[in-house]
Amino acid sequence: PIVKDLFGLSNLEEKIRKVYGLRKVVVVPGDSESSPLAKRELGRAGAKALLSVMSNDRIVAVTGGSTLAEVAEQLTPPSNVSLKGSWFVPARGGLGESLEIQANTIVSTMAKHVGAQYRLLHVPDLLSEDAYQSLVQDPNILEMINMIRGAQIIIHGIGDAMEMARRRKLDSETVRELQEEGALSESYGYYFNEQGVVVHRMLTLGLRLEDIKNAEVVIGIAGGKSKAKAIQSVLRFGHEHILVTDEAAAIDIVKNI
Ligand code: BG6
Repeated sequence: PIVKDLFGLSNLEEKIRKVYGLRKVVVVPGDSESSPLAKRELGRAGAKALLSVMSNDRIVAVTGGSTLAEVAEQLTPPSNVSLKGSWFVPARGGLGESLEIQANTIVSTMAKHVGAQYRLLHVPDLLSEDAYQSLVQDPNILEMINMIRGAQIIIHGIGDAMEMARRRKLDSETVRELQEEGALSESYGYYFNEQGVVVHRMLTLGLRLEDIKNAEVVIGIAGGKSKAKAIQSVLRFGHEHILVTDEAAAIDIVKNI
């Protein structure tokens, strides 16, 4: 805390917490976009935040992304409680992204690191209407989806809308739609505009908006100066409880409050 005060980080945390009505904000020093060390710190702070809300009978839904992969790396078994009865599940199907940062991979790493259970969802992230309708008929998939949708804890990354559209290899028509709709940020398959209004969603098996609204704890983790606006738009959506970010993003968020 003393070091934090020296850097004025506690001040940033408190301002953001108050303005967006959050339970807790953690700001780590530096810019995680340019510094791997800061990214590791972001992951460590995310792991700590997650452990602080875990108990032995929880379902945790997890998104993909490089930030969440870092959280998984930094998770260590809690000393005071067994998490054997907890479950980690992916928030949605797989992305067209590299294996290391897919939700399924992150889920298994997290569960192994804390000694919890996990289940994976082996379906593509983006589905056609037909594929969606036939997959939800499958009893195993349906059971898994119900588990995801009943998650009490959600931990997710936040991305810039256009960057995520590119990473997900969306077709040019969808990208144009997103631009016209004013999509600024993306999280758990939903695209938000600057005011935090959902302007676009992807047809995926997994978390729906109502599941996010009903969750007991929603933890958002994202850092880097270029993500400040994206983070702010998700905060304006208003369903986060805990935010873990870095100094570079926090400074710009506070400037823009
Ligand atoms: C994706 C998540 O995998 O990662 C998104 O599904 C998130 O919700 C994105 O926006 C962020 O990725 P990164 O690599 O910037 O942490």
